[in-house]
Amino acid sequence: MTALPAVEASPALSTSADYTSALDLLREASRAYYGGGNSPMDDASFDALRRAVLEWEAEHPSEAAGSPTGLVADGAAPEGDIAHTTRLLSLDNVFSPEELTGWAASLTRRLGREAEGGFTVEPKLDGAAVAARYRGGRLVQIVTRGDGTHGEDVSHVIGSVVGLPEHLAEPVTFEARGEVLFTQAQFETANEVRAAHGAALFANPRNGAAGTLRAKDRPYRLEMTFWAYGAVDLGGESFLPVEATHAQVLAAVAGAGVQTTAATPAGLHVVDTIAEAQAQVDAIAALRAGLPFGIDGVVVKANSAAEQEAAGLGSRFPHWAIAYKLPAVERQTVLEDVVWEVGRTGVLAPTAVLAPVDIDGSTVSRATLHNPADIARRGLHLGDTVTVYKAGDIIPRVQAPVVELRPQGAVPVPLPDACPNCGGDIDRSQERWRCAKGTTCALAPLIGYAAGRDILDIDGLGKTYVKALIDAGLVGDVADLFSLTAEQLTTASGSAKRGAKLVEQLALAKARPLSRVFCALGIPGTGRSMSRRIAAHFGTMDAILRASAEDIQAVEGMGPEKAPVVVAELVALAPVIDKLIAAGVNMSEPERPSVATPVVAEGPLAGRTVVVTGRMTGRLEGYGRTQMNELIERAGGRAGSSVNAKTTYLVAASSPSGKPSSKATAALKLGVEVLTPEEFADLVTEHLA
Ligand code: IVH
Repeated sequence: MTALPAVEASPALSTSADYTSALDLLREASRAYYGGGNSPMDDASFDALRRAVLEWEAEHPSEAAGSPTGLVADGAAPEGDIAHTTRLLSLDNVFSPEELTGWAASLTRRLGREAEGGFTVEPKLDGAAVAARYRGGRLVQIVTRGDGTHGEDVSHVIGSVVGLPEHLAEPVTFEARGEVLFTQAQFETANEVRAAHGAALFANPRNGAAGTLRAKDRPYRLEMTFWAYGAVDLGGESFLPVEATHAQVLAAVAGAGVQTTAATPAGLHVVDTIAEAQAQVDAIAALRAGLPFGIDGVVVKANSAAEQEAAGLGSRFPHWAIAYKLPAVERQTVLEDVVWEVGRTGVLAPTAVLAPVDIDGSTVSRATLHNPADIARRGLHLGDTVTVYKAGDIIPRVQAPVVELRPQGAVPVPLPDACPNCGGDIDRSQERWRCAKGTTCALAPLIGYAAGRDILDIDGLGKTYVKALIDAGLVGDVADLFSLTAEQLTTASGSAKRGAKLVEQLALAKARPLSRVFCALGIPGTGRSMSRRIAAHFGTMDAILRASAEDIQAVEGMGPEKAPVVVAELVALAPVIDKLIAAGVNMSEPERPSVATPVVAEGPLAGRTVVVTGRMTGRLEGYGRTQMNELIERAGGRAGSSVNAKTTYLVAASSPSGKPSSKATAALKLGVEVLTPEEFADLVTEHLA
């Protein structure tokens, strides 16, 4: 396989020779894209290349006669021998609101009037198209799209596709059409299974799905997921409602027990106008980063069957539907290096250093790799071309290497044999490796973190002074901060005034709630929200210290692997905790919910999940994210980080630009109640500090 350049803008074609070689590249990439197996080119580059070819063909129609762009799947889909009942078509694309309006105008022209039946809006699932045939309520055959008229029989996956039950409740006969894909979780599992069998990892969920459909003789089965976006009658039976709208057809399919796009978290929306359709496109786009599977666009369809029929079909796609493509969130780039840093808890964190690549409007040059086991599982080699995923404001992640593009002689990513910070031993007993010295190895980041506004809030204790105190041998752990004298603080900060202020700040810090004091200890897996949950659950440090691993596991989100680590860590930290107690630091959580109802508290927000966005104003002015989360929990609620079906309220401060945030758009779409900071303050008045 040839390595193809990762082009971003349309590569300009200036001669017929350029056009011919662009067609060759397109054919090769299309074969990989539609045929499964790993693609030599990412989607953004593929789309750009395809656009350049189409532009050339528009200007030089005489040269385009034999072009693959005129065929379904660019003529590259592996052919099959199973005839489709009716053709499985593809979709034309638009890339902007103007182009969507242009498509609506062309639909109006075809109908001779504006569409009256409204539009549907649903996610464009990034998987592989299949037709699933049910006869008498039994799933008898699954066929790939193939060239649109004939597909391949891939019935070997029957039984391993969530959403496509083998038996339906009623003995109905019809064909569901939709997309088979790996959700992100299924993809991770699939690659673990592949690695265990010594098979090359899938570079991304879509290639994995296409490859899994085609592979008939694997010694293992991989679970995938199906959502229907259409259906047709089969074998003369008439199961589907006659003259039904698109939404009604999908409702009938769902009623029969097959999963449809309406059941995805992005949903199926019926709207009246194209402007409303655009708003739903935006709303689905805003949900994208939080979806548990990949989408590469949003599909808008004329809802009425009569209007679909009147608009008709082109050679490759229907005139009544359009794909609004979203920017690519996955690119391929080169893994140049892996650097290791020791975080505040002493855990060794590997970061991938990548050849810079533009993803969805930002340049990505670093991505998190979780731990050594994860690197090994993914079989990453230095110099590998890797797929990198980034959507919205999520941290970029390396998905997998494109093994076909591995340079000769590439070596697996080396793992450190000594702590990269202090050169000492590494504790490899957990998946996440840790310096054997624990928090003392990375003392400066830990103390800096503990002093931060969200934790002990020691105003004025910046990085430089922390370093001075550590270098002077005065601070060897977080408890030492509380035995510092005014004189020592004056020397470290270089001024008596600053020294006096720090003394005051440290006195205030002693009274912080247990959740923050606990968080300042730097125990792996106990960040701010976990520390709040632990403190709320146990109430006092004493109760935490008496807890067994099993007791700790009762805290929401605390898994069976983490809990024993917390217990062991607390034992090791006993001298530090004793020093904190001796210094008079607070060891209890105020307003602890009653023991009988652990964590599920009373209060105006009991049983409610609240998400916050933007800078708070009015009575909540100055409340940072942690203070807001604490307030929510004090009022009996749960603080969420992203808007989803479980969210009760979104507290949204208006943004300076006046543009709704992506969280606000998502809330609108999901019907989540949006509150201003003042409205929220009214709701929780009695819990305001
Ligand atoms: S409708 C006759 N709806 O995208 C209309 N397609 O790029 C046929 N796809 O071939 C397609 N999600 O494999 C439709 N909600 C959705 C879809 C969807 C994903 C795929 C489908 C199609 C391809 C076109």
